[in-house]
Amino acid sequence: MMFAFSALDDRGSQAGQKCSNIVAPMARRRRPAGAATDGMVMDKVAVRSPATLSNLGSGFDVFGLALREPYDVVEARRISDRKVVIEDIEGPGASSITTDPTRNSAGIAARAVLELAGAGFGVALRIKKGIRPCSGIGSSGASAAGGACAANLLLDRPLRSEELVVCAARAEQATSGSFHADNVGPAVLGGFTVIRSYEPFEIHRMDPPVELGVVVTMPDFLVNTREARNVLPSSVPLKSMIFEVGNAASLVLGMARGDIVLVGRSMSDQVIEPARAPLNPGLREAEAAALGAGAAGSFLGGSGPCVIAVYDRKRADGEAIAEAVRNVYAANGVDSDTWVTTWGEGCRRI
Ligand code: HSE
Repeated sequence: MMFAFSALDDRGSQAGQKCSNIVAPMARRRRPAGAATDGMVMDKVAVRSPATLSNLGSGFDVFGLALREPYDVVEARRISDRKVVIEDIEGPGASSITTDPTRNSAGIAARAVLELAGAGFGVALRIKKGIRPCSGIGSSGASAAGGACAANLLLDRPLRSEELVVCAARAEQATSGSFHADNVGPAVLGGFTVIRSYEPFEIHRMDPPVELGVVVTMPDFLVNTREARNVLPSSVPLKSMIFEVGNAASLVLGMARGDIVLVGRSMSDQVIEPARAPLNPGLREAEAAALGAGAAGSFLGGSGPCVIAVYDRKRADGEAIAEAVRNVYAANGVDSDTWVTTWGEGCRRI
């Protein structure tokens, strides 16, 4: 698989940057996520791997956004046997997650990294889930990215970040049935990511507007990504394609200009959400409640069931948006958890 990747320098990327920065041909490579700077090889590491938003309304399988919270923690320890073992999983939903390394997303991603690097050792993983599975905010993607990045930190010669994204996406493919990198991309790289192409694989990242706030509401029911992909249409009318492209392009423009109102307005989708709405009774009402409480945009997080609202932290109150959305589910007898947060960085060593 071929790679292309572009990223802004962390210091130079702020709201209002020129759009050309996003799509510039690859020139600068980021240091591998969480990599040590001193060249020291470690026997044991822990990384924090963030929850991520995918789709963002109009960018199905293309757009992604790393969140500041919640996050998983993945620890990796070198072992002499050339294999991957999962010693422990704890946290929300841990009992439903397999410790079989050939079926666990962290295990699959770690193995993919070791194989690609030709490592002469194996890893033992311990996973602390902060993100419940089947949530729509990249639970499997966070563990996959964490497994890839943690294994990478144990290598004498670490892989590049974009290679880690592909290794983590292999885990997504194994667990969901489709190769999509819109969660693992931002989980590794941080910020806002755009996948221009899957074959050859090409991903770009940029920092979103500094004041972009995010409210995540997780109703207390599960949606399985594999099942949520099975309800999608196999073809799209031309009129819908025009709508999606117009909104996706405008969303990127809003990110580049630091225009949160444009970003929010462009989080509209006529193809994916309508197909999945029956899996989340209350979705439309929840989105309307978020907008009514001051959100700039609202959409279904990934394959759901999380409902996402974005807002300008200078102009709206994230807690009020969270309450409005929570009330919609509560009125229907459904409890929910909320996070009032913002965008964040990708996997980091802790
Ligand atoms: N883009 C993927 C989907 C993300 O919506 O199916 C899954 O979390």
